[in-house]
Amino acid sequence: MKKEAYRITVLPGDGIGPEVITEAIRVLQQTAECANFKLHLDYRLVGGAAIDNYETPLPMETLQACKVSDAVLLGAIGAPQYDNLPAAIRPEKGLLGLRAGLKLYANLRPAKVYPSLIQASSLKAELVNNIDILIVRELTGGIYFGEPRGIDDQAGGRGYNTMVYTRPEVERISRVAFEAAHKRGKRLCSVDKANVLEVSQFWRSVVIKMAAEYPDVELSHMYVDNAAMQLVRKPKQFDVIVTGNLFGDILSDEAAMLTGSLGMLPSASLGDGPGMFEPVHGSAPDIAGQNKANPIATIASAAMMLAYSCDRKQEAAIIEQAISQVLDEGTRTADIAAEGEPIISTSEMGHRIVEKVKELFHRKQE
Ligand code: IPM
Ligand code: MG
Repeated sequence: MKKEAYRITVLPGDGIGPEVITEAIRVLQQTAECANFKLHLDYRLVGGAAIDNYETPLPMETLQACKVSDAVLLGAIGAPQYDNLPAAIRPEKGLLGLRAGLKLYANLRPAKVYPSLIQASSLKAELVNNIDILIVRELTGGIYFGEPRGIDDQAGGRGYNTMVYTRPEVERISRVAFEAAHKRGKRLCSVDKANVLEVSQFWRSVVIKMAAEYPDVELSHMYVDNAAMQLVRKPKQFDVIVTGNLFGDILSDEAAMLTGSLGMLPSASLGDGPGMFEPVHGSAPDIAGQNKANPIATIASAAMMLAYSCDRKQEAAIIEQAISQVLDEGTRTADIAAEGEPIISTSEMGHRIVEKVKELFHRKQE
């Protein structure tokens, strides 16, 4: 909903999270100033940062703050010093807890190429130029959350998880995907493993039923192994992909790599309440605190936040344009620089995008 002021819960998190969030907030503040709206920012702890202070990766008050905001902006979660903690209190649990607690069932991961970075793709340029794929990943169900799950001593020891989807779960995620396809290229590919798994046979039958409501969207189905292969063979065949939690986790990393912009992609996690927006990349502990990280994925996530949770599509488009133009001008952080190209810092990249946003707004007014 469009408002004059938005309440944003900011979760910088771990590793490079705080640095990239700082730049995204600077870009948001500049955008708000130019477009005449206000941001009320509520900073909270999550992940390792929360473990240090509260002994849990997701304190109640963090979740509570998220629930009463218009949207949540997250940096990154995870740091090596927590890797040996019991699974229940590892930083990742904070992320899964946010997804479950905010009922963020739909994860949108766009894989788009920035033309000036195409040489960084692992595929030939002609295979990936202009790709624009949207992966719609189910985020609060499937094997990530299914019961029963556990590790026990039966039969000399065993570990198990359950992949389960209910009809309402498949219906709501496919609705998000059909709607997206309807607004984009009108092609939807549902990815499953229906040749082996009953849960996938059921998933497929529900998606097919749903298709009747979207006669203009061409629906296809693919087994996940084939989809993984087709993504590198001929990525341009895809428009929107809808899939379950685990398959979506895997395919979205693969699709991100194709773009050559792995560190640059944003994501949105949506439910019926506030949405959460975060870069696809992780917390990169090896470069944390060095003002080296690329803030673009987080800045692009902030743009998605404006578009999806604040009804500010034009402002979001300006931020996206600013990113694109700054890249076209050859501005590079270390991760995206070709050999010999000059490298700038996290804060300098943020600064250039802020300046570009300002310039684009002014030009629009003229
Ligand atoms: C992702 C990540 C998470 C996931 C991890 C950190 C729990 O890989 O957001 O894709 O598996 O969903
Ligand atoms: Mg993942």
